[in-house]
Amino acid sequence: MLLQEVIGIYSLLSPPALTSHASTRVCNALALMQSLASHEATRQAFLQAQIPLYLYPCLSTTSKARPFEYLRLTCLGVMGALVKSDDPKVIEFLLSTEIIPLCLRIMETGNELSRTVAIFVIQKILLDRVGLEYICQTYERFFAVVTVLNAMVLHLVEQRSMRLLKPIVRCYLRLSEHKKALEGLKQTLPIPLRDGIFDDMLGEDPMTAKMMAELLNRVSQPPADIILP
Ligand code: TRP
Repeated sequence: MLLQEVIGIYSLLSPPALTSHASTRVCNALALMQSLASHEATRQAFLQAQIPLYLYPCLSTTSKARPFEYLRLTCLGVMGALVKSDDPKVIEFLLSTEIIPLCLRIMETGNELSRTVAIFVIQKILLDRVGLEYICQTYERFFAVVTVLNAMVLHLVEQRSMRLLKPIVRCYLRLSEHKKALEGLKQTLPIPLRDGIFDDMLGEDPMTAKMMAELLNRVSQPPADIILP
């Protein structure tokens, strides 16, 4: 029944024709799906039935109208509930789908709330051992993720947000734990992060400040290949 609610609005996605009434209705169904995604007793079956895939058409919409913002945010909530479980099976499932590019696009173009949930999903994927390996497996993947993180940093210079700075720093720090990715970060870590532009914000969050310091320490080491044995 919940799935029918979701599929029922596909025809309103493109061209965008979702009314706020229809959006509210499908988001109520999605809220129930979020419970299925977060509860241990239902999560496996939820993945096995590939329910998240049915949300992807909603997540790929680009309309800035309220009903669409609400729909995307609620779908992200389901994805967020899944990854919050820290279950490697969830990450394994997500890596087999195209959720990463979808999240990256929302991190680029979404509103602050959507960006926050989208980067939360990416952060959870990165924190997983297999997830980090997957993203760092090809230069293209690494580059796609870092390009969006870098753009978010530049955006933060204009529009400060602790809610976003924290997961951004966490994502960079996690990437720096991967040998090849660290070499990439040495080249591409954006200037505002190196310049201490966010120090005043970090002053209010010692944990993130510590991660930031560790990140800068790592990227300031000389390239790995010239370190003598
Ligand atoms: N199928 C794509 C790939 O494997 C998925 C993808 C697109 C992707 N952009 C990405 C994965 C960025 C990780 C990061 O490359």
